[in-house]
Amino acid sequence: MTERPKASPVCASQSERSEIVFPADANALGNLFGGRLMQFIDLVGATAASRHARAFTITASMDHLDFVAPVHVGDLLILKSSVNRAFRTSMEIGVRAMVEDVRAQTLRHVSTAYLTYVAVNVAGNPTEVPQVIPETEHQIRRYEDAGRRRELRYAEVQLKKERRSILAPEWHL
Ligand SMILES: CC(C)(COP(=O)(O)OP(=O)(O)OC[C@H]1O[C@@H](n2cnc3c(N)ncnc32)[C@H](O)[C@@H]1OP(=O)(O)O)[C@@H](O)C(=O)NCCC(=O)NCCS
Repeated sequence: MTERPKASPVCASQSERSEIVFPADANALGNLFGGRLMQFIDLVGATAASRHARAFTITASMDHLDFVAPVHVGDLLILKSSVNRAFRTSMEIGVRAMVEDVRAQTLRHVSTAYLTYVAVNVAGNPTEVPQVIPETEHQIRRYEDAGRRRELRYAEVQLKKERRSILAPEWHL
């Protein structure tokens, strides 16, 4: 039996990404298009997941995403990601997106998301990930919350798997 990779602290894989929002990223109102923000979130989430797993990772789900406030063209978007909890082959990653006001030196929260990534080996099969060690009060709270979300998610995933083969008549070509 192969040994489980050594546990590592949350801080070892925390990641950050900065983006200046350009007109090509905007919707008709001049705000950042939600799908583009989701892409940035997925990228920064995958960075933390791959660093923690020390492996390729694939996005299994983005099960919670709040758009709290709009992001405007010209804004400096800061995205931070962190492993909330590692399970067997999957990890929940939390992403927080903020806009930095460079003059006032403040951060405005614009979005929060929870994503699950699965580590895969070179053959593309799920592979075990190291456990994560939460160290701070916030990391411990996120670790516990991720456990609760996993229970809800697991039940939902099982139900969806059972229903996946059923295609409603209106969806047929
Ligand atoms: C993610 C994927 C590998 C899971 O496949 P599966 O047959 O359910 O695999 P398993 O049953 O072995 O589950 C592997 C892990 O994924 C987790 N998982 C599976 N479906 C999930 C979902 N919808 N949400 C969250 N976690 C999920 C399982 O809980 C398990 O985690 P654990 O080992 O930590 O307990 C598979 O659905 C897949 O390849 N999806 C496509 C991913 C992709 O291409 N993403 C890019 C976006 S296009």
